[in-house]
Amino acid sequence: MLDKTQQGKSTVIGIGSGKGGVGKTTFAVNLATMLRESGKKVLIFDADLGLANIHIAFKNRVDGTMIDVLQGTKSLPEIIIEAENGVHIISGGNGLDEVLSINKHSATQIVHSFSELEGLYDYLIVDVSAGIDDNVMTFMAACDFKIVLGTEEPSSIADAYALIKMLTKKEHLSDLIYVPNKVRNTRNGQNLFDSMNKIAQKFLGASLNFIGSISYSSDYNQAWTKGVPAVTMGQSAIIERDYEDIIEALKQFDTPEDSARVRFFS
Ligand SMILES: Nc1ncnc2c1ncn2[C@@H]1O[C@H](COP(=O)(O)OP(=O)(O)O)[C@@H](O)[C@H]1O
Ligand SMILES: [Mg+2]
Repeated sequence: MLDKTQQGKSTVIGIGSGKGGVGKTTFAVNLATMLRESGKKVLIFDADLGLANIHIAFKNRVDGTMIDVLQGTKSLPEIIIEAENGVHIISGGNGLDEVLSINKHSATQIVHSFSELEGLYDYLIVDVSAGIDDNVMTFMAACDFKIVLGTEEPSSIADAYALIKMLTKKEHLSDLIYVPNKVRNTRNGQNLFDSMNKIAQKFLGASLNFIGSISYSSDYNQAWTKGVPAVTMGQSAIIERDYEDIIEALKQFDTPEDSARVRFFS
C-alpha cells in the first residue's frame, strides 16, 4: 500500500471529449507519466466502463476491473495495477457483459468508492468515456479540473461543444478547460481554443480556460503499438514540451471548493 501523500490532498483531473477517438486516453497516459516522472503518485481511472483500454497503452494485464468492485467481488485496492513506470491504473472493464451490468447509478457509486483511496495519490486522472450521458456528467462534475479535449475535425468540435453545453447548462459548471489536440503547432492550437471559447461565450455565456494544446505527432501511434507512453520515447522534444506547459499552467489554477457536489475523495 502507498504511503499517504505529503499534503494528503489529491488533485483530480477529468478528461472528456464528447466524441471518441480524439485522444483522451493518450492524453491521460502521457500526462500521468510526466507527473510520475516529477515524483508524483498518480492513479489513472479508465472510466470508459465496459470499453476500457488504458492497460494496452502500458502493455499491462488486467485481473480485476471496476465492474468487479460494483459487483462486490473485489475491493478497489485489489484491482489497482502498476505500470512499469510506476503509474497506477484502474480499469473500467471491457466486454459486453460488463457493459450490460452498468446502470445509471454506477457513476455515483464509483465516485464514492474512491474515498477508500483518499490521501494515497497526488493526482487522480479520470479518463472519461465518449458521449454526454449521465455517467459522463457525474464523473466530470466530480473532478477538480474538468478538461474537454478536442481536435479541429468538425465532428469533434460539435461534440466537444455539446459536452461543454451540457456541463455548463445541466451541471452548472463554470470552470471548464478546453485543450486542442492533434494541432499543427501552438498557434494553430491557440486559434482552435479561441474559436471554441468564442462560441461558448456567445451561446452559453461561459468562458473556457486555456492551459495549452497538444501537437500532432505520429509518435503517439507508435507509442500505442509499443505499449509505452509517447513522452518516454524521447523522439520528439515537442511532445514533452506540450505536457510540461500544460502541467505548469494547471499549477497556476486554484480550484474552487464545491463541497455540495458528489466528488472524488470527499
Ligand atoms: N496528438 C496526437 N497526435 C497524433 N495522434 C494522436 C494524438 N493524440 C492521440 N492520437 C491518436 O489518436 C488515436 C485515438 O486516441 P485515443 O487516446 O485512443 O482516443 P480516445 O481515448 O479519445 O478514444 C490513437 O491512435 C492515438 O495514437
Ligand atoms: Mg479512450
